[in-house]
Amino acid sequence: MTRKIIIDTDPGQDDAVAILLAAASPELEVRALTVVAGNVPLSYTRVNARKVLELAGRTDIPVYVGCDRPMRRKLVTAEHVHGKTGLDGPDLPAPTMAEQSQHGVDYLIDTLRAAPAGTITLCPLGPLTNIAMALVKAPDIAPRIAEIVLMGGAYFDVGNITPAAEFNIYVDPEAADVVLNSGVKITMIPLDVTHRALATKPRLDAIAAIGNRSGNAVSAMLNFSERFDLAKYGWGGAPVHDPNVIAYLLKPELYTGRQINVTVELASELTLGMTVADYWQITKRPRNVFYVRDVDAQGFYDLLTDRLARLP
Ligand code: BDR
Ligand code: CA
Repeated sequence: MTRKIIIDTDPGQDDAVAILLAAASPELEVRALTVVAGNVPLSYTRVNARKVLELAGRTDIPVYVGCDRPMRRKLVTAEHVHGKTGLDGPDLPAPTMAEQSQHGVDYLIDTLRAAPAGTITLCPLGPLTNIAMALVKAPDIAPRIAEIVLMGGAYFDVGNITPAAEFNIYVDPEAADVVLNSGVKITMIPLDVTHRALATKPRLDAIAAIGNRSGNAVSAMLNFSERFDLAKYGWGGAPVHDPNVIAYLLKPELYTGRQINVTVELASELTLGMTVADYWQITKRPRNVFYVRDVDAQGFYDLLTDRLARLP
């Protein structure tokens, strides 16, 4: 049986790779992309989402445009990582497919209300604004969501946009707070995991060797986005965060973690957006998150490379 998912995204090279992985995987029925502001402003992410679907030959997947700023704060972006457009690297043509006219938040609400309860999984790959806005506007959708599998947060590897906070959570911490307290089943893929699945040269070479247009585009994307992380961390490769969400759906056996409490810091200027993970279960706070901690990195890259080879 295929699993129905909605990908909420702010592409972003690594978001693009996640979308391609999902688009190539018959186990998943991608109902739609909902787009949010994050890595770059919404004016770019809404275009990038459609460029990636056209690259994958999947213009059957509709794109709904969501929020252009966080719930309570000014948008913080990451052009220093992703380039001006968010998708710098490959030279992809301007998209010709249309956007849907309905707002992304209303699409989420209507779709979750119309589908049988527990049949749609949400896959947020950016700030959680759209998901939280839908939960605030229509709290009745919470018990209808099968699961939220998100890329965000960090604990052992702390921050990448501040010393304490991971980008997606930092950009809209109030939205993260709504999601974490929603009662929905949540799986979190934090930096602690993505930093253990580095795109080393042999892994990038394997993607480049596929030779199709999607493989070539991913190769160009990752070679662009690696530059910042390689200089920053000095590791043998850069993390490719967001596709881990899709890989987790496809092959959960590649990942390990535990059910714990995660709470987001909203008050402190110094640690705003920090995901405080009670990994050692020191408190009695409710265990609201399946916190993924480790990954079979080679298994992840083998899966990604195999699936990209199925695309045009
Ligand atoms: C997350 O932030 C963005 O830069 C990436 O697309 C990913 O979703 C990693 O912190
Ligand atoms: Ca992202």
